Amino acid sequence: MNRRKFIARTTAAMVLPMIVPGCVVGRGRASRPSNRINIGVVGWGMQGPSNTQNFLTLDDCRVVAACDLDKNALQAAVNTVNKAYGNQDCAAYHDYKEMMARDDIDAVMLAVPDNWHELVATHAASRGLDIYGEKPLAKTIVEQQRIVHAVERNKVIWQTGSWQRSGATFRKAAEIVRNGLIGKVTHVEVGLPSGHTDFKHTGPELKAKLAAYPEYANDFTKIVPGTPAWDIAVTAPPPELDYETWIGPARMEPYIKQRVHMDWRWNYNTGGGQLLDWVGHHLDIAHWGLGFDRSGPSEIEGHGEFPAPDALWNTCTKYRVEMQYPEDITVTMAGGHEDIKSGTKWIGTEGWVWVDRSGFAASNPEWKKYKNLPDELAKIRIYNYPNNQGTTHWKNFLDCVKSRQETVAPVQTAHHSATPGHLGLISMLTGRKIHWDVKHEKILDDPEASKLMSREYRAPYKMS
Ligand SMILES: NC(=O)c1ccc[n+]([C@@H]2O[C@H](COP(=O)([O-])OP(=O)(O)OC[C@H]3O[C@@H](n4cnc5c(N)ncnc54)[C@H](O)[C@@H]3O)[C@@H](O)[C@H]2O)c1
Repeated sequence: MNRRKFIARTTAAMVLPMIVPGCVVGRGRASRPSNRINIGVVGWGMQGPSNTQNFLTLDDCRVVAACDLDKNALQAAVNTVNKAYGNQDCAAYHDYKEMMARDDIDAVMLAVPDNWHELVATHAASRGLDIYGEKPLAKTIVEQQRIVHAVERNKVIWQTGSWQRSGATFRKAAEIVRNGLIGKVTHVEVGLPSGHTDFKHTGPELKAKLAAYPEYANDFTKIVPGTPAWDIAVTAPPPELDYETWIGPARMEPYIKQRVHMDWRWNYNTGGGQLLDWVGHHLDIAHWGLGFDRSGPSEIEGHGEFPAPDALWNTCTKYRVEMQYPEDITVTMAGGHEDIKSGTKWIGTEGWVWVDRSGFAASNPEWKKYKNLPDELAKIRIYNYPNNQGTTHWKNFLDCVKSRQETVAPVQTAHHSATPGHLGLISMLTGRKIHWDVKHEKILDDPEASKLMSREYRAPYKMS
């Protein structure tokens, strides 16, 4: 038994059933002279650097280690951390288990593709590490359940990267709804992006190689195995990337650059398309306003436009999911439909509120003027964390690591926020309405759809 586990177990035995902050009972982290939270970061692509930059500006933590399967990304991580601290102390790891075996790491930041969420997060939880983990909680509902279970069993703190919850405007909008200022909510519109985005900007490179095949060069959804374009797209993995491990528990498939860093989300083997990429942001906010962080829809019916399942980019390009929630509330979640504006719009019997990263609007223009909802209008405060700085979400995590209180985006919330996205996709794939038992987290009377709540792991990987 390592030192941290020993401390955690003996501490738990001493303090149960009282809830006592870690610093009082002397967990490993609090007994250190600096009293700083040591963090290891896993995944240095699009979101890992962004999360880490926030931690690097906060004095109550220290980033001590970085991990990535891509040597170039790993070196960039180490360089960034060392430059920020003006030293050479950041340790580099290829294997997250090796990094997490260290006894002096208290918390981890996980920003790996969805395909890896369950394995990395459950391992971190089993090591007693507090976790800042990304949305959507996992690739499938069952993997999400495993993460929830591991986090709760090991009593680790979890913060989801649904950082909109730490934005003043989102919070104000959700509080307006929660305080009944728009009357009884009848309907919610959740607008998400559509199509595919070449985040890694590797598209032009492939396009140039496909100059002789313009029909493929201009549309990666047309590139399927057996076409000359596919044979051109497939290459050997670059030497800096451990592709065999990168593909992890997913089905092994040939290396195609445009399906790996950042753009793995456009391939259902590793990601979940726009719907799953964004459900953890705008539907998460919808739930927050409704007070449904541990609730969900009972009926889900989705329709979408899909490329061929084996296409280079094969995720749904346009979709619409209609859902029935408790309290007679209906929710439409859509991407690529002009009648559903990006962001979250709650519609009630006495008004409406809309919020997005780009703005705020409401039936009562007065509400736009407030930074925070004034006390006389806010009988209910949804999460008492008034610090609205740029780093609020990450600071909230660190504060909760110390206090052992729930973060603004705990694991059950992440689970319930992403589940309707998974169910919407399952409905689209089966072509049927899904009946969902929210309490028991089961699809009713549909074995084929139920199977899609999970996936096979490629050997030797095993779900926790
Ligand atoms: N909260 C947000 O606003 C936000 C924004 C973008 C992405 N995300 C989420 O962040 C996560 C990562 O997305 P991304 O766009 O940064 O992906 P990315 O492909 O840009 O980066 C992922 C990195 O993880 C590394 N990696 C993969 N498997 C690994 C493993 N087993 N061990 C160590 N390293 C591994 C890859 O080599 C890569 O460098 C996803 O869950 C995504 O949904 C969140």
